[in-house]
Amino acid sequence: MTVRLPATGATADELALSVWPVAQQLAREQRRRRYLPESTAHPGKMLPALAREAISRYTQPGELVLDPMCGIGTTLVEAAHLGRQAIGLELEPRWAQLATANVRHAETHGATGSAIALQGDARQLGRSLLNNYRGRVALILTSPPYGPSTHGHVRKHPDRVEKLNDRYSHNPDNLAHLPAHSGPRTHRPDFDTVLGEILSRCARMLHPHNGRLVLTVRPYRQQGALVDLPGRLISLAEHAGLAFASREVALLCGLRGEELVPRASFFQLHHQRKGVIERMLLIAHEDVLILTARKRTQRRSG
Ligand SMILES: C[S@@+](CC[C@H](N)C(=O)[O-])C[C@H]1O[C@@H](n2cnc3c(N)ncnc32)[C@H](O)[C@@H]1O
Repeated sequence: MTVRLPATGATADELALSVWPVAQQLAREQRRRRYLPESTAHPGKMLPALAREAISRYTQPGELVLDPMCGIGTTLVEAAHLGRQAIGLELEPRWAQLATANVRHAETHGATGSAIALQGDARQLGRSLLNNYRGRVALILTSPPYGPSTHGHVRKHPDRVEKLNDRYSHNPDNLAHLPAHSGPRTHRPDFDTVLGEILSRCARMLHPHNGRLVLTVRPYRQQGALVDLPGRLISLAEHAGLAFASREVALLCGLRGEELVPRASFFQLHHQRKGVIERMLLIAHEDVLILTARKRTQRRSG
């Protein structure tokens, strides 16, 4: 199935500025032999080509890259392969250990930089964790989890389809498991409050002049309606003291000449075949939000 790109009048070079073709290879091909096979079990990994693109655009060899919610360590592995120094934090011991193992694998397979992954809560960043790195980070590259469940993997049985590897953990403090709204009964902070706190910790870690925060986030549909999660994250980040610089597009589909090659998930195809979805509205990209450490001072007119 292919879809023609609408005529934009833009040249390929102009498109390349804000559209990142990072899914030219399937995700599993991008990770083959570069990551340990156990990494497959993590339900929300960043595409390695996306991490490489962000790190190459926004840092120089030797500079410091941080991922405060590093999962299996994609940011760390790609930074190390590009000769950068990288530090990752991850709340779940299982993923933090896997990130460490993936970093070791990279270091024994030609990576010229170095990286470490620590188990810890991103809310402690610059407080009890990594205080010494405050104001020294050139790039924070991260993708927050949103919602407890992801597509994960499927196993087909004669009478049913089983979903597996679709959760980060069962830890109630994981950002993925926080309520969308706090209420008098929950006594738990909501997702926006905690993510806002993490973003303000990130703001303090960035180099004040050239530090950048790159957030990758997918818009998603709820009962057919598009949820503008990227827009919500931009306002959370601005409240946390960061300045919005640009919103770019990382393609999750292939780009062949002027044609997009969509990659529907098992469940999207399954629902369409069963007629649950009348007309499939595929999300074929991930938003890449670029923020800087400081609000630019506005010149007064007159
Ligand atoms: C979308 S995943 C990031 C995946 C990562 N980019 C990769 O490629 O593996 C988000 C991660 O944030 C972690 N997380 C959730 N709450 C956290 C917190 N408070 N502190 C640190 N990590 C957290 C989750 O366990 C999950 O692994």
